[in-house]
Amino acid sequence: MSKLPNNFLWGGALAANQFEGGYNEDGKGLSVIDVMTAGEHGKPRQITKQVDPEKYYPNHVGIDFYHKYKEDIALFNEMGLKCLRTSIAWTRIFPNGDEEQPNEAGLKFYDDLFDELLKYGIEPVITLSHFEIPLHLATEYGGFRNRKVADFFAHFAETVFERYKNKVKYWMTFNEINNQMDTDNPIFLWTNSGVTIEENENPEEVLYQVAHNELIASAKAVKIGKTINPDFQIGAMISHVPIYPYSCNPEDMMEAVKANRLRFFFPDVQVRGFYPGYANKMFETKGYDIGWVTGDDQILQEGTVDYLGFSYYMSTVVKHDAEAYTGENVTNGGLPNSVDNPYIEQSDWGWAIDPTGLRYTLNVLYDRYQIPLFIVENGLGAVDKFDDKGNIHDDYRIDYLRSHIKASIDAVHEDGVNLMGYTPWGIIDIVSFTTGEMKKRYGLIHVDRDNNGEGSLKRTKKDSFDWFKNVIQTNGESI
Ligand code: BG6
Repeated sequence: MSKLPNNFLWGGALAANQFEGGYNEDGKGLSVIDVMTAGEHGKPRQITKQVDPEKYYPNHVGIDFYHKYKEDIALFNEMGLKCLRTSIAWTRIFPNGDEEQPNEAGLKFYDDLFDELLKYGIEPVITLSHFEIPLHLATEYGGFRNRKVADFFAHFAETVFERYKNKVKYWMTFNEINNQMDTDNPIFLWTNSGVTIEENENPEEVLYQVAHNELIASAKAVKIGKTINPDFQIGAMISHVPIYPYSCNPEDMMEAVKANRLRFFFPDVQVRGFYPGYANKMFETKGYDIGWVTGDDQILQEGTVDYLGFSYYMSTVVKHDAEAYTGENVTNGGLPNSVDNPYIEQSDWGWAIDPTGLRYTLNVLYDRYQIPLFIVENGLGAVDKFDDKGNIHDDYRIDYLRSHIKASIDAVHEDGVNLMGYTPWGIIDIVSFTTGEMKKRYGLIHVDRDNNGEGSLKRTKKDSFDWFKNVIQTNGESI
């Protein structure tokens, strides 16, 4: 008998902006990600705020899923996926974000896409905003620092909930809503919320103002969704990079407790429906005005989520007296006091590989919230090479996925965690979010496209394709 429930949602995860392409087709407007150039490891992407014809923007074409979705979904079906996590590009539906009427061609695209998935019995799992917001809302309204944008988001949510109420059951509001607390890398705040910090602003205060508006937007969307279809399952989505104390020194322990609050702040509100004591205390001590409006407590209370989706790639470590971090530590958690963990290996992009950290995460999140969890991203970004017969033997990726799936099964079977499903990130090669590279590949299906946008876009199965197919077929018994 399988250690996982029969309805376990095995799938794959993607995001509209990283793979659809068709960035200006059929009435689509510009999104904040459409004005981000390509970077590479150690060289950040630039936010140009408008399309500069002299520059290369990798998300404009992605992997051209917009035109190839039937071919790709047939491959997902062959792999045996039970669900596909992707997102709706807000700018296909509302090109500028502040329109009253939606763009019918954009709505039709997702109708066709969901129909194609449902034809094969693949359940769509949909994120409303995965690192994108209409550029117009960023440049004209200041993004989520403006409360009006929360209402535009609620209108967008209502429109798609209504349209797809009989096709989509599983939703999430914002992708990795907590990632924007990392102000060292401006792309998180820009893509999550359409916000840039101005000179002489207090970045932390702005962050919490933005956070408040986005928490209100998320809660409003949940309430609207439940009214439209009470069977909807609407989740929050966070990035979870667990933070270990460097030692049993009580100072390191306290450092870890404090640092972990950056991870928990958003789900604490989205799951419980009110602000945690540590946040209220901080606002009071620092004199922050987060833009609270009378009635917000009720909005938050009425908009709590049904489940918690999260991404897990790595863990990190803090040390209370670590020297100020160097740029190299940014990928390891982006925390002022983070240090390398001597017990674990890192990927080629410096991400610490820690499967036990996933079991730890599942336990910590379930103990804290007691609602179903969903691993909606996990995977290894690596360079893949063809052998002389045209095959890719990605054993390193299989090893990574196997060890993390095993850790998840242990958390369910031995620790009693309620886990809904597992969708590896970038089930097919797509544009990397942090670097904009194609070279950093997560897929179980290779796509012929390089960092400069060259390549035929041909799809080729890697060894991990058949391996994962067998994992799904045996419901995790054979890994
Ligand atoms: C998560 C995001 O942060 O990590 C994805 O939700 C992203 O959009 C993924 O692609 C992996 O990051 P990267 O930078 O390696 O693509």
